[in-house]
Amino acid sequence: MPWKDWIRTVEVEPSLYAADFAHLGAQIDVLLRAGVRIFHFDVGDGHFVEPITIGPIVLQSISKQIHDADAHVDCHLMTEHPEKHFAAIAAAGGDSVTVHYEACDDLPAVVRAARARELQVGLAFKPETSAAYAAHAALASRVDMVLCMSIEPGYSGQEFMPEAYERIRTTRSLLPPDVPVQVDGGIGPENIRAVRDAGATLFVAGSSIFGREDLPRAYRRLLQELA
Ligand code: DX5
Ligand code: ZN
Repeated sequence: MPWKDWIRTVEVEPSLYAADFAHLGAQIDVLLRAGVRIFHFDVGDGHFVEPITIGPIVLQSISKQIHDADAHVDCHLMTEHPEKHFAAIAAAGGDSVTVHYEACDDLPAVVRAARARELQVGLAFKPETSAAYAAHAALASRVDMVLCMSIEPGYSGQEFMPEAYERIRTTRSLLPPDVPVQVDGGIGPENIRAVRDAGATLFVAGSSIFGREDLPRAYRRLLQELA
């Protein structure tokens, strides 16, 4: 099923990287009950980004629970050679792969490899990468969504970079309306509305959900700011 059929007008995607892994299934369950339809899943390889994060083994253990509730797993690949991971991610139940512009020498080939596994494809770009270059590459390779990073990828809990607003606006202006813009990094109740006003419709939220006592409440608070 394509990205555009998963998403309502806007989606707040809890980033599982920030979850409490001793209680992962229970935290996913309360968020599904609160209405979450897309979970963000960060794969970091220790090369493209400093940390080794989570991968197909963890994905395998949660994908059925998420799919049974008609929700999806959006995999953000902060890795070199992202295509090497597509088979394992598809087998573990991932629904999409978002690859980094900076990590792909041949983006059209990477997109074809993802489509061959029936994965949806997003294109992410780092703060120092030109939004215009990334948007043109996204258009040429016909990806399903574009992820504008609002932090240096690698860790949860960093502060939103205000320069991101301009890059979000540029990205939005260069893409057709059916290609959503996602923003990842430092999103919370204090800035989510402004991020939307800049043109994003998909909002990744790690610490602003999992860093709170009451996860459903934190999720709803972000939605309320968008209403
Ligand atoms: C880090 C990841 C993010 C991260 C976001 O590079 O790509 O998805 O989990 O966490 P917060 O929302 O805390 O910045
Ligand atoms: Zn991410």
